[in-house]
Amino acid sequence: MATILDGNNPYAIRTAVEALRAGELVAFPTETVYGLGANALDERAVARIFAVKNRPHFDPLIVHVFDEASVPQYATDVDRRAVALMGRFWPGPLTLVLRKQPIIPDLVTAGFDTVALRVPSHPVARALLKEVNLPIAAPSANPFGYVSPTTAEHVRDMLGDAIGLILNGGPCAVGVESTVCALTEEQAVILRPGGVSVEEVEAVIGPVTAGQSPQPDRRSPGTLPSHYAPRVPLFLIACGTPLPRPAAGERTGLLLLQPRLVEGYATVEYLSQGGNLIEAAANLFAALRRLDSAGLDRVIVESVPECGIGRAIMDRLRRAAA
Ligand code: TXA
Ligand code: MG
Repeated sequence: MATILDGNNPYAIRTAVEALRAGELVAFPTETVYGLGANALDERAVARIFAVKNRPHFDPLIVHVFDEASVPQYATDVDRRAVALMGRFWPGPLTLVLRKQPIIPDLVTAGFDTVALRVPSHPVARALLKEVNLPIAAPSANPFGYVSPTTAEHVRDMLGDAIGLILNGGPCAVGVESTVCALTEEQAVILRPGGVSVEEVEAVIGPVTAGQSPQPDRRSPGTLPSHYAPRVPLFLIACGTPLPRPAAGERTGLLLLQPRLVEGYATVEYLSQGGNLIEAAANLFAALRRLDSAGLDRVIVESVPECGIGRAIMDRLRRAAA
């Protein structure tokens, strides 16, 4: 069983650094979700990530670095848009896809000639990246296709038998994964909506192409139609529509943006007392996990407004319901 250490303790960081340098995996907190990290330059360690997650090798990994200064070591086409976005959003929940340097193994990038780079802002992630002084490949620390973990306990519940060490940094403040923005062509493309909103990106670099619908995109398997999915069937309904009456003899759960009076549901979860989308994102994955373990036949999910981080919430809900 994995050991959980308090990531704010310097001893824990040293232990994690030694493990990463020895080619082992370490789960660590970021401001978005917990990551399952390995030395990105060590192919054997990276191969372990794919094995532990049961992740298909066509799905490339995000490489986490301490700061912008190390980007030229791993990427080549760092243009003005990249510099502007890094300056505005790093450290933070934005991942940039750039043309890769040969030092990044093909296994990390699934054979693409591009690499996804991100500088996380969580203090434990920052302490780890600073001390290890290596690029860390890290997908979300969950079995492929399942809901991402937002606490150390979520990681232990799903992967505790397969890994040795989990750094605990408390619940993730953002709660949905980073925004993935590709800058490899003239037109910037949002491959995955996430913690930084499309509006915020556009305010810095102008219009971007945004994947509005959950079309499978071979460039970013995080955009596969069924992903981030709990086991219980989810049914999305439009925001503000009357709620369906739960079928007699069925245990139906309900996921709402904010509290309201309902009848007949076995379990009701809401994402934010005041209907705040940022708070809702932070609570989303933990709520989905609770609903998934409540012994329900199905869950009705009310849509949230699709603006700001609401776009990332709806993206995850659509895939979870697919
Ligand atoms: O918030 C996050 O991004 C978290 C934390 C741990 O940093 N990580 C995360 O990783 O969500 P993962 O592996 O679950 O999702 C990475 C996404 C996938 O959709 C993947 O296809 C895409 O990034 N991606 C990675 N490298 C890419 C590349 N070279 N080109 C296009 N998409 C890429
Ligand atoms: Mg993931």
